[in-house]
Amino acid sequence: MGRVQDKVVFITGVARGQGRAHALRLAEEGADIIGVDLCADIATNGYALATREDLDETVRQVEKLGRRIVARQADVREPGELREAVAAGAAELGGLDAVVAQAGICPLGTQDPQAFLDAVTVDFNGVVHAVQAALPHLRDGGSIVATGSVAGLLPGGTDNPANGFGGMGYAFAKRAVASFVHDLAATMAPRSIRANAVHPTNTNTAMLNSDPMYRVFRPDLESPTREDVLLAFPALNAMPVGFVEPEDIASLVLFLVSDESRFMTGLQLRVDAGAYVKNRPQQPPAL
Ligand SMILES: NC(=O)c1ccc[n+]([C@@H]2O[C@H](COP(=O)([O-])OP(=O)(O)OC[C@H]3O[C@@H](n4cnc5c(N)ncnc54)[C@H](O)[C@@H]3O)[C@@H](O)[C@H]2O)c1
Repeated sequence: MGRVQDKVVFITGVARGQGRAHALRLAEEGADIIGVDLCADIATNGYALATREDLDETVRQVEKLGRRIVARQADVREPGELREAVAAGAAELGGLDAVVAQAGICPLGTQDPQAFLDAVTVDFNGVVHAVQAALPHLRDGGSIVATGSVAGLLPGGTDNPANGFGGMGYAFAKRAVASFVHDLAATMAPRSIRANAVHPTNTNTAMLNSDPMYRVFRPDLESPTREDVLLAFPALNAMPVGFVEPEDIASLVLFLVSDESRFMTGLQLRVDAGAYVKNRPQQPPAL
């Protein structure tokens, strides 16, 4: 038996990156998946989002593991699209045990206020919409996992002037995710439904490996390459690594979806190679 045997898990942003890693790790441990992804670009976001081919590849890999997946294109900014996707998936797979709300964008470096709105609408509203779509189907004892970021826990992470309105929106949205999860945990506790937030540091996905992110880490260069940023990425973390892998986040998500964590709720869990403790040292008491 797997660690999440026969559980049904709804994942947003499932086409690639961390979303795909979560789907595969959960499927390896016996889960069936309901997955959505936008499979289109957003104008203010300075790098390409996933494609239909990426989503098809996630489907292929989950099925190769012998599990079922109901996947469709849907936008987390559109509550109706998520409601339809979850209803169809839950009907086909037999209910719902968990939600992993983690679709995201990071529209850094633009001075267009629309980038603030886009970041908040995808990265925060998208989480609330996923929970809203899931709740009518979620069994008592279920699990809600939302992905924040250490950028939401560290002052000046993405919310500094160089990152413009998009960076400000990203940090704002991730702080809101942390706060929402805290209160959601209290609200859902009478049904023994748990809610926890996962906060990754730099993670080796297309979001990190993008030109706007490279410019954040190497503001001294006009067109930094990946080679240039590999020297700069480790500055964020206390451990001597520049980034973690999507599978490192998936290990925590698997634990939070499984019953091994059945009395853990309202937590803010960092997979951050020590980024938080490095950048938020404790203050000595005032004398
Ligand atoms: N990569 C990092 O360094 C890092 C660090 C901290 C937190 N995060 C967070 O991790 C989560 C996953 O990101 P990732 O690193 O896998 O990046 P990614 O860009 O590879 O994956 C994000 C996925 O979300 C999808 N998506 C974007 N907007 C959508 C929308 N409106 N509706 C549906 N799907 C949409 C994209 O198509 C893509 O498949 C995000 O919430 C991100 O903010 C990433």
